[in-house]
Amino acid sequence: MRFSLATIGFLAVGVVNAAQNLSTAGVEALVQRRLPNNVNDFVFTLNSPPSGYAATGNTTDKANDEYSVSNGHNGTINIAGNSPIALASGLRWYMTNYIRVDIYWFIGSRLHLAPQILPKVNATYQGSSIVPWRYHFNTVTFSYTAAFWSWEDWELELDWLALRGVNLPLAWVGYEKVLIEVLLEAGFTQSDVATCLSGPAFQSWNRFGNIQGSWGGDLPMQWVDSQYALQKQIVSRMVELGMTPVLPAFTGFVPYQVGKHYPNASFVNGSQWNAFPAQYTNVTFLEPFDPLFTTLQKSFISKQAAAYGNVSSIYTLDQYNENNPYSGDLTYLQNVTSNTIASLKIADPNAVWMLQGWLFYSSATFWTNDRIKAYLGGVKNSDMIVLDLFSESQPQWQRTNSYYGKPWIWCELHDYGGNMGLYGQVENVTVNPIQALANTSSTMIGMGGQEGNEIMYDILLDQAWSKHPLNSDTYFHDWVTSRYHGAASLPVGLYKAWETMRSTVYNNTQIDIANAVTKSIFELAPNTTGLLNRTGHHPTTIQYNTTVLIAAWKDFYGAALQEPSLWDNTAYTFDLTDITRQVLANAFYPVYISFVAAANNTNNATYSRTTAINVGAQMISLLSDIDSVLAASGHPSFTLANWIASARAWASSTSNLPDTTTTSSTISQTAAFYEYNARNQITLWGPTGQISDYASKQWAGLISSYYVPRWEMFVDYTLNSSTAANGANAALAKSLLAFEENWQTQVWGESEEESYVVPEAARLTSEIARVVGCWPNVFGR
Ligand SMILES: *[C@@H]1O[C@H](CO)[C@@H](O)[C@H](O)[C@H]1NC(C)=O
Ligand SMILES: *[C@@H]1O[C@H](CO)[C@@H](O)[C@H](O)[C@H]1NC(C)=O
Ligand SMILES: *[C@@H]1O[C@H](CO)[C@@H](O)[C@H](O)[C@H]1NC(C)=O
Ligand SMILES: *[C@@H]1O[C@H](CO)[C@@H](O)[C@H](O)[C@H]1NC(C)=O
Ligand SMILES: *[C@@H]1O[C@H](CO)[C@@H](O)[C@H](O)[C@H]1NC(C)=O
Ligand SMILES: *[C@@H]1O[C@H](CO)[C@@H](O)[C@H](O)[C@H]1NC(C)=O
Ligand SMILES: *[C@@H]1O[C@H](CO)[C@@H](O)[C@H](O)[C@H]1NC(C)=O
Ligand SMILES: *[C@@H]1O[C@H](CO)[C@@H](O)[C@H](O)[C@H]1NC(C)=O
Ligand SMILES: *[C@@H]1O[C@H](CO)[C@@H](O)[C@H](O)[C@H]1NC(C)=O
Ligand SMILES: *[C@@H]1O[C@H](CO)[C@@H](O)[C@H](O)[C@H]1NC(C)=O
Ligand SMILES: *[C@@H]1O[C@H](CO)[C@@H](O)[C@H](O)[C@H]1NC(C)=O
Ligand SMILES: *[C@@H]1O[C@H](CO)[C@@H](O)[C@H](O)[C@H]1NC(C)=O
Repeated sequence: MRFSLATIGFLAVGVVNAAQNLSTAGVEALVQRRLPNNVNDFVFTLNSPPSGYAATGNTTDKANDEYSVSNGHNGTINIAGNSPIALASGLRWYMTNYIRVDIYWFIGSRLHLAPQILPKVNATYQGSSIVPWRYHFNTVTFSYTAAFWSWEDWELELDWLALRGVNLPLAWVGYEKVLIEVLLEAGFTQSDVATCLSGPAFQSWNRFGNIQGSWGGDLPMQWVDSQYALQKQIVSRMVELGMTPVLPAFTGFVPYQVGKHYPNASFVNGSQWNAFPAQYTNVTFLEPFDPLFTTLQKSFISKQAAAYGNVSSIYTLDQYNENNPYSGDLTYLQNVTSNTIASLKIADPNAVWMLQGWLFYSSATFWTNDRIKAYLGGVKNSDMIVLDLFSESQPQWQRTNSYYGKPWIWCELHDYGGNMGLYGQVENVTVNPIQALANTSSTMIGMGGQEGNEIMYDILLDQAWSKHPLNSDTYFHDWVTSRYHGAASLPVGLYKAWETMRSTVYNNTQIDIANAVTKSIFELAPNTTGLLNRTGHHPTTIQYNTTVLIAAWKDFYGAALQEPSLWDNTAYTFDLTDITRQVLANAFYPVYISFVAAANNTNNATYSRTTAINVGAQMISLLSDIDSVLAASGHPSFTLANWIASARAWASSTSNLPDTTTTSSTISQTAAFYEYNARNQITLWGPTGQISDYASKQWAGLISSYYVPRWEMFVDYTLNSSTAANGANAALAKSLLAFEENWQTQVWGESEEESYVVPEAARLTSEIARVVGCWPNVFGR
């Protein structure tokens, strides 16, 4: 299926951010959406246009955002600011400090709980950001978290961002549409393009040049077109809210057939990424000094501007993410960047290149300081922004002397593959950015990030509006008040629970042992060895005292016994589910250890087969109980059903297909392919398990249909095989893989384990009581 974009000429030189939003309409529309009963109660005023970036296109020059909140003459709340995002930030300051309500991931907006008559402010309040830019997302978030998001999901997210002052979000959705047009116009065939693009759940790594092609079927144009339509909505909402979307550019990754169409082109083959076979990695990279690179860049940027308007000159562009350059020669590295930025400048004279700095950490052996200096040296300081991606654990800005003068952004990152675990580094995200900003050589211009553990992103984005490190004690207290707004006065147990977690679960300081959320061992392929004590960024070590988390759980659960209306509070049921999930996941460890110890000792005279059988059965029933708590929560985001339903729903999206010849059989084939992608990413991650269990999830339906059967096979095998004690068990490994591969192509709801639908009503009260009764030792009862 072909789709053509109108091609327009170059953007008028000198017109920067022609569509820079200088209107209050975005924040007013946000109030309409989220506070329909209070639309007339706020008066928004843009004081003076923001100085700096909007006027000059200089990212370093941009002013900080400022707002004031004061009382109007007639009972209104007046919010004035120097940018639309400053106004939204002022609105959130008022809503959290005076009304004690907010908007949250997974839970939604609770702003509508505001009273009809809004309280006056005690005094005029002035807020000011400490950095001009607040950045959000990661390239991979678009696949791990947002791959199947609907427009409604995006609307919630974008309002969340606006209220938290984010003005520089990544905007990757729909990239393939423009790229395909560029490639076809350049003479590549449809089938060349098909060998190049990856499936809906794997686009981030395709965009990074880590992988190419799509296993299980080609990327359908139906997907490309519907994502493109979605991106139009996303970009236009971002602009309306006053954000500067960071848009993609042409990276240099092309179909491998490039030599056939352009015999003189200079290109190199990428390296192998993880364990992928050459067919799916080894991505062809067109050298930026080749004139074709500039031609394709011009084509890409002009088509993109025609599609979304002249809305941004900041481009995300990464050529060596987990994929080293062809040569480490300093001249070569500088040549790559100088030609890449030159191509961008020809396409858009105001172009600024945003580079993700992960490579300097992940490939630190290759990226010596000399090489980093040469690579960054190809670009003028004002033409680049570097994301210091892992600032709280592995910052690179010190060793690179603030990226040799490039403006950079302090980013929080603590979760890989969207894994689920309670985790944070509360000291580092408050103290370290302030220290970085105070450093005399620092060129830090922003802060941001996004993963799970919402409170850790809230505190980081609020830190961006405070000159001094926030006091996490009062921060957590206030956060709890807003989070559970609804009960007349909140039981003290809620505060106590979060206070306990603040100083334990959310205060990881042993970053040399673990620097990301704990991945519970039950999400890994069962084994007698190798699961415990993993370190690094997929750690299985639990960094806090698990008894202390149980104490926090008791306080948190006890709060609803005292104040039963909390059972109707979605924020409470979400967090209770999450904390219960973590307590039960932690409890799996000792049961597993007992099982292996018992089963390992077949030659031991006191070995009791009965004990081993009992402990094995306990492991399985514990997993089933985690599954049933998650299912009973009433929160779709804790379910596999939701992930798969969101993926399948895209198959019926026809919003932009006037000439569609879609039949119900093609819809169901497409839905099956999207479901395969959804299943594969969170399990085998690759056609045959290339990064198996990297993006594992603790979801109802996934535990019951995938982890439970794996552990049952393990228990059965271990109990019934004479070679059970040995971890390297080829026969078990083979049957596990056969099971995992078979699971990939199942259709949701067809197996018994997957028979329930997305939960609508919470059954949490009775389910938690049941599980607590089953596991008295776990819950310390
Ligand atoms: C951008 O602004 C910074 C800070 O005002 C200034 O030092 C720099 O020279 C400017 N760059 C350009 C290219 O104008
Ligand atoms: C309050 O006054 C402002 C102008 O000062 C006006 O825009 C707004 O609509 C008034 N609000 C109400 C509730 O009367
Ligand atoms: C406003 O003043 C009241 C009464 O002194 C006080 O209780 C409240 O905390 C103040 N609110 C804020 C946000 O400062
Ligand atoms: C990598 O791709 C190139 C084409 O760009 C091809 O010539 C080469 O054989 C491939 N490498 C492997 C190991 O398949
Ligand atoms: C980059 O390298 C190419 C190939 O060696 C060479 O032709 C070109 O002049 C170099 N460009 C710069 C800016 O160094
Ligand atoms: C993070 O904070 C801990 C103390 O809370 C400190 O030991 C560690 O050095 C910090 N890490 C970084 C990268 O600054
Ligand atoms: C976090 O742990 C460090 C090191 O044990 C300690 O110094 C600090 O006070 C703790 N912070 C909180 C908020 O508990
Ligand atoms: C894991 O670490 C704990 C605590 O350091 C230790 O007791 C245990 O032996 C370790 N287990 C394995 C399998 O290495
Ligand atoms: C964990 O916390 C409990 C309860 O406070 C305490 O009794 C226990 O000694 C702690 N364990 C460790 C290893 O610190
Ligand atoms: C035998 O197994 C029991 C129970 O698993 C254990 O407590 C004991 O230490 C084992 N003895 C030896 C010699 O391995
Ligand atoms: C079980 O036995 C294997 C092989 O003898 C050994 O490598 C492993 O460490 C043992 N595991 C435990 C938990 O004792
Ligand atoms: C257990 O882990 C070992 C070491 O990684 C591996 O060789 C073995 O195949 C695994 N066993 C199973 C059953 O997967």
